[in-house]
Amino acid sequence: MYYIGLDLGTSALKLLLMSGQGEICKIISKEYPISFPKPGWSEQNPVDWWNAAVDGIRELVRDVDKDQIKGISFGGQMHGLVVLDKDDNVIRPAILWNDGRTSEECKFLNEVVGTEKLSQYTANIAFAGFTAPKILWMQKHEPENFSKIHKIMLPKDYLAYRLSGVFCTDVSDASGMLLFDVEHKRWSEEMLNICGIKREQMADIYESYEAVGTVTPEAAKELGLSEAVKIIAGAGDNAAAAIGTGTVGDGKCNISLGTSGTIFISSKNFRVDKNNALHSFAHADGHFHLMGCMLSAASCNKWWMEDIIGTKEYGKEQESLQVLGENHVFFLPYLMGERSPYNDPDARGAFIGMSMDTKRSDMTLAVLEGVAFAMKDSLGIAKSLGIDIKKTTICGGGAKSLLWRKIMANVLNLEINIIESEEGPGYGGAILAAVGCGEYSSVEEAAKKLVKVVDTVKPDSELVNKYEERYKIFRQIYPSLKFLYPML
Ligand code: XUL
Repeated sequence: MYYIGLDLGTSALKLLLMSGQGEICKIISKEYPISFPKPGWSEQNPVDWWNAAVDGIRELVRDVDKDQIKGISFGGQMHGLVVLDKDDNVIRPAILWNDGRTSEECKFLNEVVGTEKLSQYTANIAFAGFTAPKILWMQKHEPENFSKIHKIMLPKDYLAYRLSGVFCTDVSDASGMLLFDVEHKRWSEEMLNICGIKREQMADIYESYEAVGTVTPEAAKELGLSEAVKIIAGAGDNAAAAIGTGTVGDGKCNISLGTSGTIFISSKNFRVDKNNALHSFAHADGHFHLMGCMLSAASCNKWWMEDIIGTKEYGKEQESLQVLGENHVFFLPYLMGERSPYNDPDARGAFIGMSMDTKRSDMTLAVLEGVAFAMKDSLGIAKSLGIDIKKTTICGGGAKSLLWRKIMANVLNLEINIIESEEGPGYGGAILAAVGCGEYSSVEEAAKKLVKVVDTVKPDSELVNKYEERYKIFRQIYPSLKFLYPML
């Protein structure tokens, strides 16, 4: 038997073919464009995602017996607003998770409706990337488009809909819409009213490991698959990555160093951070999690390397970075504004501390360290809630760098377990597909059997202390610049 995990990322769709025993048989990647039509805006065309899925699935299954493919599931970029009209046409480009256009709408939600009510209805407050403020933005700025909305969906659910014809979502991804009552796992009537939308415009909700249906005859023909292939609801990419790294059950931690950076803490019980600085979402294992999200993580390094210094030789550039914990240059990684913990769409990146002897390598290191320091901000909030975290797993493109792993371990003072595969969301998606098809009795059982730790990076107390001193300085930079950002 084979299972397919689709990781619908911000830069590409990564497709992973897994055997029933958890072996990764093939991985391919199909890129698509992203557009930034105005500063802080971020959009993609859902039809590009579908085309990538069609091309990718055909290529992925080319050499396997099609009757052995049993299920497809997803890990998808979260919070994106996809809107379809009555004929299922996409009305406008999807507004993505890292889009910051909704400052006004967030202000209305957090200050007029009020954070207390939002938290009571949804367990969360408004952040610029969440879906509900985007719906309010459309209502105000694109009333004609707004009036055509028949279906509101999240990015991966568009793929599930095109594959199965079922208008569905899952609890983990629905949690990031600010329209979902996370504790009771149902749409919040109050939030639907506030956003001027009706229940019929919203999808049916499933647990992440539940089958929603099978591929439609048309999709089966287009993809060269059997009509018996099951479509499993899937999860937001962070919850899927957590499954793919074995972050299930209580009190486990996973860090994702992808386009975004997240720290994900699994929890058997529902809980809320009283200041709502961490998101309180449902998990793909049937339980819950807390999460801090930075909008730019590995993307800061990509920007610095490729757009600014103009190289793709990541390994070579990092070779010279031997001395850690003594950098006099600091970098704020807020290239797309920041979510956790500041909730500030106006925040922007900054380098500070350069002098005439500063070298390019100091700035390269500052970028890697700045992302780690900003991640420590979210870890600090989790710790302040009494959550005792001593170790974590890590996944995402940035986790491939041995140097960055070491910096993360020492800045965060955590042991980092390295998993056999860094393909968090794709592997998690394939595991969800296997569970949904009955290959494993639960997500927990599958994760226990399939996810293997192959190495551990341990923090070194001397370096931890040096970084603790550097972090004290880092923490003062954002508050000192904050007042300038709206003017930029
Ligand atoms: C999580 C978030 C990002 C995206 C990235 O809240 O916005 O991690 O899911 O794809």
